[in-house]
Amino acid sequence: MSSPSPESLDAAPPAVGRQVRQLALQFAAAFAVLSLAWPYYSVRNEELPWPQTAFAIGGAALLLASLTRQAWWWRLMHALFAPLAWAVSRLAIDPGWFLLLFMLLLLVYRGALSGQVPLYFSNRQTAAALAQLTADRRELRFLDLGAGIGSVLGPLARERPDAQFAGVENAPATWLVGRLRTAALANCDWRWGDLWRTDFAAFNVVYAFLSPAPMATLWAKLQREMPAGSLFISNSFAVPDVEPTSVVEIDDARQTLLYCYRL
Ligand SMILES: C[S@@+](CC[C@H](N)C(=O)[O-])C[C@H]1O[C@@H](n2cnc3c(N)ncnc32)[C@H](O)[C@@H]1O
Repeated sequence: MSSPSPESLDAAPPAVGRQVRQLALQFAAAFAVLSLAWPYYSVRNEELPWPQTAFAIGGAALLLASLTRQAWWWRLMHALFAPLAWAVSRLAIDPGWFLLLFMLLLLVYRGALSGQVPLYFSNRQTAAALAQLTADRRELRFLDLGAGIGSVLGPLARERPDAQFAGVENAPATWLVGRLRTAALANCDWRWGDLWRTDFAAFNVVYAFLSPAPMATLWAKLQREMPAGSLFISNSFAVPDVEPTSVVEIDDARQTLLYCYRL
């Protein structure tokens, strides 16, 4: 993989900070409730009632999440976290299972944790539309940012043996599946790595199917690194405050939109 420029290393959006803030909110709620409940029940020489305490922590977390104007689904998660943790602790499951489940999820959903980019795949119709959109480029050098299991690169690389394709993927399990699926394609460079540490300068078409979270930062990186006349295509997520050169509507079940930006 080409070595990143110092600018490209700066570009990753601060995704982990957001999760740490949510964790801090949950800790603050637990701390507030326990610092009142513990002395109260100690003075009365009674045991802490865990179910009530868990619900009180959930209520305090909901209050803090509402005061800090979190999205509704964050509020719901904050309200339910402590009561559910208490309920699951009653099942007396060996903690090793939780660790194992976490590791397995990380192998597949690493992108969701590190960059708010979940895992879903482009469909066949989208790959066909991308083939059409790039058909007139003779020296096509195509990069899929967060390439998943190669749902786009596989069909495109087979259809255009004259062109060069690369995909960068950072979740171990999806990377491995994509590696196996594209192993026989000589014109497909399947890379293990972080899209924020990838230099886009060698490509004239970049495709992304990510989430709304990284789009503004990604646009700045694309503008900095891609050669003039290049094309950026984003599946479903538009770049905020930037007018696309064109929008292609795909006739599939979810009416996929491809936002195309000529740089
Ligand atoms: C929505 S999926 C799209 C997969 C594929 N491009 C497609 O269209 O089928 C997004 C992918 O980006 C990967 N991803 C997220 N953050 C990444 C990062 N910083 N570097 C590389 N890959 C990343 C995820 O693991 C996931 O496989």
